[in-house]
Amino acid sequence: MAKARLFRLWLALGSVFMILVIIVYWDNVGTAHFYLHTSLSRPHLPDPHPTPGPEEGKDFTSDVDEFLDKLLSSGLKQNDLSRRKTEQRPLLASPKPALSNMEENVRGYDWSPHNTKQNPDQDRLQAERRRVLRDFCANSSFVFPTKERSFDDIPNYELNHLIVDDRHGIIYCYVPKVACTNWKRVMIVLSESLLDRGVPYREPLDIPREHVHNSSTHLTFNKFWRRYGKFSRHLMKIKLKKYTKFLFVRDPFVRLISAFRSKFELENEEFYRKFAVPMLKMYSNLTSLPTSVSEAFSAGLKVSFSNFIQYLLDPHTERLAPFNEHWRQVYRLCHPCQIDYDFVGKLETLDEDAAQLLRLLKVDQLLHFPPSYRNRTASSWEEDWFARIPLAWRQQLYKLYEADFVLFGYPKPENLLQD
Ligand SMILES: *[C@@H]1O[C@H](CO)[C@@H](O)[C@H](O)[C@H]1NC(C)=O
Ligand SMILES: *[C@@H]1O[C@H](CO)[C@@H](O)[C@H](O)[C@H]1NC(C)=O
Ligand SMILES: *[C@@H]1O[C@H](CO)[C@@H](O)[C@H](O)[C@H]1NC(C)=O
Ligand SMILES: *[C@@H]1O[C@H](CO)[C@@H](O)[C@H](O)[C@H]1NC(C)=O
Repeated sequence: MAKARLFRLWLALGSVFMILVIIVYWDNVGTAHFYLHTSLSRPHLPDPHPTPGPEEGKDFTSDVDEFLDKLLSSGLKQNDLSRRKTEQRPLLASPKPALSNMEENVRGYDWSPHNTKQNPDQDRLQAERRRVLRDFCANSSFVFPTKERSFDDIPNYELNHLIVDDRHGIIYCYVPKVACTNWKRVMIVLSESLLDRGVPYREPLDIPREHVHNSSTHLTFNKFWRRYGKFSRHLMKIKLKKYTKFLFVRDPFVRLISAFRSKFELENEEFYRKFAVPMLKMYSNLTSLPTSVSEAFSAGLKVSFSNFIQYLLDPHTERLAPFNEHWRQVYRLCHPCQIDYDFVGKLETLDEDAAQLLRLLKVDQLLHFPPSYRNRTASSWEEDWFARIPLAWRQQLYKLYEADFVLFGYPKPENLLQD
């Protein structure tokens, strides 16, 4: 009797334990579990093309990819260009796709392979940028934080800079202070994610700035978890494999000057309260500061570039919170060793790169990249800006941003780093 009760108790405890194990296991390695599940439940048909051992895993993966793709994309719009061509034909009988097809023609969409006038020099430049990036990612003697982690180990909140356009199959990683307002506008037009009185915006410059930077306007990877749950990582990987991925970068030190100019030289209430006040208190020995930025500016209380550099080098800063996106390193925003970018644009060659990219994406008939008339921070100002920054700080600052310099092929600014 007692034995039976003990047995039942053990059984109950065992079940609870197993359930806990399953929950924990599923949460940690959701996708791995999924592979296992599918490969086990796969019917064992004779394989007409037997593949060697290591290939087998890949085979299952692509099977799962295909299955998940079909399953999940039924609710999404289908975007991959080649797929679009092959899958649309049988659907033409039904009126709805025909209509959307017509709409696309009316809007000037041109899915036919048109003769793109690619400039061979630009192609070579692009291949070179991607080669440098790949080589340094593969070079084990070049190290920086987070380099060795896998895509699966990147937390969701760090994927908030990857904007997805499912209509054209494009992923853009935005880097603040690198023409990101205009590229976000382009993404809004392409993905039709924002309506103006019921009609999607057609002209990037028509989109008001405040909408451009409102994160609810964009579909970013960090939102996938809420939408797709367990499948989100897998879906991201499918999209990363199939879509064209791009980012724009600029000289890291010039980007810092640009960030400083726009956030601390202009009156910005949010940056004043969040960053300027603590910096002035800590590095300028001020105790009481005005509550509004306009009062502070009229009292001559402004953060200096030197304060800003001191803040970046202060180990306390990162202990409180990760760097703000305007000065966070590009490798932390865009994960260039985990994501194989198809196109690396540079602000220094923005006009040529933008034209080439839009041709590459086959959307150059749809829109033009907005020309920028703003007073852009120039590389030639660097020496002046850093003139009053101590040499030791400049060297530490270079170390802090070295990965961005190296990965994106910016030469080490020797003139600033030597006496
Ligand atoms: C790897 O990186 C190191 C240091 O960054 C460099 O000296 C070396 O030349 C690189 N090796 C290759 C094969 O690129
Ligand atoms: C962003 O857009 C959403 C929806 O359009 C709106 O509810 C929200 O107030 C906006 N946020 C800001 C900060 O403007
Ligand atoms: C900071 O201010 C306090 C009082 O306002 C003063 O005693 C101290 O010497 C100042 N320190 C520096 C480094 O300026
Ligand atoms: C651009 O900005 C710099 C420094 O902020 C200033 O000296 C220069 O006059 C500006 N140029 C124009 C054309 O506004």
